Amino acid sequence: MINVAIIGTGAIAPSHIEAYKHFSEKCKVIAVCDLYPEKAKKALEHYNLGAEFVKDYKELLERPDIDLVSVCTPPYTHSQIAVDFLDAGKHVIVEKPMASSLEECDAMNEAAERSGKILSVIAQNRFRTPMMKLKNVLDTKLMGPILHTQVDSFWWRGHSYYDLWWRGTWEKEGGGCTLNHAVHHIDIFQWMNGMPSEITAVTSNTAHDNAEVEDISIAIGRYDDGALAQITSSVVHHGEEQQLIFQGKNARVSSPWKLKASKSRGNGFPEEDKDLEDKIQKVYDEQPDLEFEGHPGQILDVLTAIEENKQVLVDGRQGRRTLELITAIYQSATLKKPVALPLKTDSPFYTRDGILKNAPHFYEKTKTIENFSDNTITT
Ligand SMILES: NC(=O)c1ccc[n+]([C@@H]2O[C@H](COP(=O)([O-])OP(=O)(O)OC[C@H]3O[C@@H](n4cnc5c(N)ncnc54)[C@H](O)[C@@H]3O)[C@@H](O)[C@H]2O)c1
Repeated sequence: MINVAIIGTGAIAPSHIEAYKHFSEKCKVIAVCDLYPEKAKKALEHYNLGAEFVKDYKELLERPDIDLVSVCTPPYTHSQIAVDFLDAGKHVIVEKPMASSLEECDAMNEAAERSGKILSVIAQNRFRTPMMKLKNVLDTKLMGPILHTQVDSFWWRGHSYYDLWWRGTWEKEGGGCTLNHAVHHIDIFQWMNGMPSEITAVTSNTAHDNAEVEDISIAIGRYDDGALAQITSSVVHHGEEQQLIFQGKNARVSSPWKLKASKSRGNGFPEEDKDLEDKIQKVYDEQPDLEFEGHPGQILDVLTAIEENKQVLVDGRQGRRTLELITAIYQSATLKKPVALPLKTDSPFYTRDGILKNAPHFYEKTKTIENFSDNTITT
């Protein structure tokens, strides 16, 4: 039996608790921690957990009966909490974004290496049947080299979203929609298509004058072979129509799934390449559906890795790569210059202090509330 502690019992914690409860033959939540006892107690009662409550996570570090910890606290706390638990010999699942700076990601990966324990960064949207099928299709390389990728990470959040105490500040949220919303799509983008070698970006805040951070960013990634990618991150898009489109030399594929293949007529104009479309569609259809999607899918991946001593799909190296792209977007937009990847440790945005010193305040945070009365969210 894998014994679990949950640190932070706010909006995302139920996704973890429900997943652990679902795999009750493998694991059990035995402790929960939050700065607000009433929030933790509500979770304990609601889920009938029979787990212990502590206010300070440090009380759990020396507990030999805890094997795995889910870190569900705000971004600025992720690194220290994860490092402390890894050093205490616990496996760690940390919510996205991995941390609020690359320096913190490096500290987390070093701790995971030191302890030999698992560090997994939540990227639950990888664990969806259409995403796994798309990844499998891309891995066949049937589309030919990818020439253009379009990432539309379109979300919509109202003005009051940034009233929550830790949101909307560089210090505590670590960034705006590029870090906290597009992190999902940027993770999938780099997992499916690899890292570009250069980023050029512009950020802005168009509708949230109560937040220091951006509510929209547009970035262009350039690969060594000349291929381009455009990544739009937003919390001002009504309808939240999100997509990832990969335009290969021979065909295009995307999430939501759509497939088109063109071949050239004698005069260069396109005609449908039905044979290739059929071949790619067959690969897509033949891949079996996932049994568990989202948080349950990723948490099962970690539980299985612990039981069978295997690798997890989304480890700290993967989490860091996603943060590297996001950091490059912030650096390029702030300095108004393209940024070469990999980002060096002397980058002005590598450390948390560097980000706090350099990142633009679009506005100042004007209102702070401790908790929303309605704490339900969509992911
Ligand atoms: N995977 C997803 O789709 C998804 C969705 C929403 C949020 N998140 C992430 O989950 C994390 C938490 O977000 P949320 O929306 O649940 O926020 P929240 O504010 O609703 O919950 C965070 C909880 O952590 C507690 N907390 C803060 N510092 C703490 C500390 N040092 N020790 C113990 N408890 C502490 C707070 O009191 C709060 O109850 C963030 O990193 C966020 O980006 C992920």
